[in-house]
Amino acid sequence: MMINSSKVHVLVLPYPGQGHINPMLQFCKRLVAKGVKTTFVNSVFISKSIPADPKSAINFETISDGHDEGGYAAAESPEAYLEKLAAFGSKALADLIRKLEDKGEPVQAVIYDSFLTWALDVAKQFGLVTAAFFTQTCAVNSIYYNVYHGLLPVPLSDSPISLPGLPLLQPKETPSFVYLPDSYPAFLHMLVNQFSNVDQADWVILNNFHKLEEDAVNWIAKLWRVITVGPTVPSIYLDKRLEDDIGYGINLFKPDSSLCINWLNSQPKDSVVYVSFGSWTEIDVEQVEEIASALKESGFKFLWVVRAFEKEKLPSKFAEETSEKGLVVTWSPQLEVLAHESVACFVTHCGFNSVLEALSLGVPVVAAPQWTDQPTNAKFLADIWGVGVKADADEKGIVRRETLVSCIREIMEGEKGKQIKENAIEWKALAKEAIDDGGSSDKNIDEFVAGLAGQKAKN
Ligand code: UDX
Repeated sequence: MMINSSKVHVLVLPYPGQGHINPMLQFCKRLVAKGVKTTFVNSVFISKSIPADPKSAINFETISDGHDEGGYAAAESPEAYLEKLAAFGSKALADLIRKLEDKGEPVQAVIYDSFLTWALDVAKQFGLVTAAFFTQTCAVNSIYYNVYHGLLPVPLSDSPISLPGLPLLQPKETPSFVYLPDSYPAFLHMLVNQFSNVDQADWVILNNFHKLEEDAVNWIAKLWRVITVGPTVPSIYLDKRLEDDIGYGINLFKPDSSLCINWLNSQPKDSVVYVSFGSWTEIDVEQVEEIASALKESGFKFLWVVRAFEKEKLPSKFAEETSEKGLVVTWSPQLEVLAHESVACFVTHCGFNSVLEALSLGVPVVAAPQWTDQPTNAKFLADIWGVGVKADADEKGIVRRETLVSCIREIMEGEKGKQIKENAIEWKALAKEAIDDGGSSDKNIDEFVAGLAGQKAKN
């Protein structure tokens, strides 16, 4: 539905990382399709590596994260990066809001990544409507909310954890920053602190769809004005209503697209295992060796993404020795790969974008979580949504080759694999239904846009 919203201008501010940019940019496309003017704000560093598309209906602006030359990788530590991001980001965001006002393009609302609590404070100074956009699952958000309020004390005890709206969780099924609180204290602090001022936000936007996390969403909706707006996967893979939405449009790495697709085209239907661990997770050298052995041993065809900086971790001559069976690339066009009919199984680190993509495209997974929200996502993929099997790590945190081989076989040729495939196809239909005309997410986006048109900010 198109709502009379032509006067509304929203500023959209993601955390500067691929996994956060993708869903917020997709949400912008949905807003534009409903007639809202949107300005998407990248960090200076990211905008240098990926120039904005001048043909896009979205406006692009930049703000400094304090590391204009190297981004996160150039920071001394996570603490140092987050501190600078807040200091530089707050000032630059205020300057940008003033600049747009002076240009005669005033902003009415700021949609900010929930990691960036300082953005809410800046928007409030200008009396703007605010919406916190949570990129991670509702389950993960609920866990951090309970930690913030002292309802789930950290460090955890060994007992299973019972929280409202969530299944019983083992400690290791909570985010790694929670069950290993000393591992990345700066990230734990940031994630828990998402809830320090969220009560002041006018809206809470969730990057999922209602049926996916019904109980958790219903519980969290008792606290704030919550809407689910996903899946935030390009429209061509779902409802096909946004004509030009054939990809995310921003790629931090350059994919070997024709190499991957030509190779997949030469493989039989449902024969390939696709392996990728996203953009941000560094894989232990021992883990790379175990994956390499598992792919060799399992005997299936494979397409494996090993990012450029990790190539040296591959066993020597691996690519040559396995060239009959597989292809190793430094970055793939993941959506096209998952949508390809030759791909039957996705070995994933369970980053939430990869999770939403697997669900939206109906691809069964082997869940090999590494850190952050991924262990909780893996629990849901395997035990709640029934679209995969979990590859458990040993006490060193490494998933061994035997485990990987048995999980891959289960998906590719096991009895359980058949049921998993059926479930994956059902989720694919539900994902499309949610974002299609009149679906739960589509209606929520309408409600948001209609609300913005006449809304005053909370005091
Ligand atoms: C990060 C965190 O690691 C993750 O846990 C959190 O849920 C989101 O932020 P990332 O590690 O990058 O994300 O993983 P993921 O969320 O899966 O996002 C990766 C994105 O890169 C996906 O959209 C995927 O399609 C894309 N990708 C990945 C490619 O296009 N090509 C590749 O070869 C690999």
